[in-house]
Amino acid sequence: MNITYLGHASLLIELGGKKLIVDPFISANPLANHIDIDSLEADYVLITHGHQDHVLDVAQIVKRTDAMIISNFEIVSWFENQGLKGHGMNLGGKFRFDFGTVKMVNAIHSSVLPDGTHGGNPAGFVIWNETECLYIGGDTALTEDMKLIPLTCPKLQVAVLPIGDNFTMGFEDACRASEWIKCNTVLGYHYDTFEPIKIDKNLAIAHFNKHYKLLQLPEIGERLTY
Ligand code: NI
Ligand code: MN
Repeated sequence: MNITYLGHASLLIELGGKKLIVDPFISANPLANHIDIDSLEADYVLITHGHQDHVLDVAQIVKRTDAMIISNFEIVSWFENQGLKGHGMNLGGKFRFDFGTVKMVNAIHSSVLPDGTHGGNPAGFVIWNETECLYIGGDTALTEDMKLIPLTCPKLQVAVLPIGDNFTMGFEDACRASEWIKCNTVLGYHYDTFEPIKIDKNLAIAHFNKHYKLLQLPEIGERLTY
């Protein structure tokens, strides 16, 4: 699998022969102004929760690419009312798509859509097929529910976890999360975009190193292979 970091909590994942965009918030992120959303390809767009910094560019990408939205039932319904198509899920459920299985797992956060509509419950995703498996935490606090992931899903190759603190886990809690999910390779996201989530990257990497774990912080636009 390949993961291209698109800034903030936005990812392009190539897995199972398909392209999945996650939580696109690119056009309003000055750090990602070298990413052209009109040149991104997508078969699916996954959305973890309803906040603006996760849904901003969904409609523009989906209209152009005809990608299918995968999110919770409330968010999918909100986009369906705008004429877009999606597959609604809810916490604890999994569904087999043509690229692999997606399981919607708990995230401790909130989820109001930009116009004030209730955005259902926030979530993370575990995505796997015969050869690949990753966890995308979404915006979340550290929660013991993460301990269920290694019990109910295949072995993770990588976990994408928020590390920016203030609105989500900070890097210390993300490091503990990586223990609980039994995955020593973490791609950190949801940091540096806004003033309250600016972090010292070297401090975060050193903390993971001290616990014999790897924290990857790719440049925006950089593509990593697992
Ligand atoms: Ni959020
Ligand atoms: Mn967020």
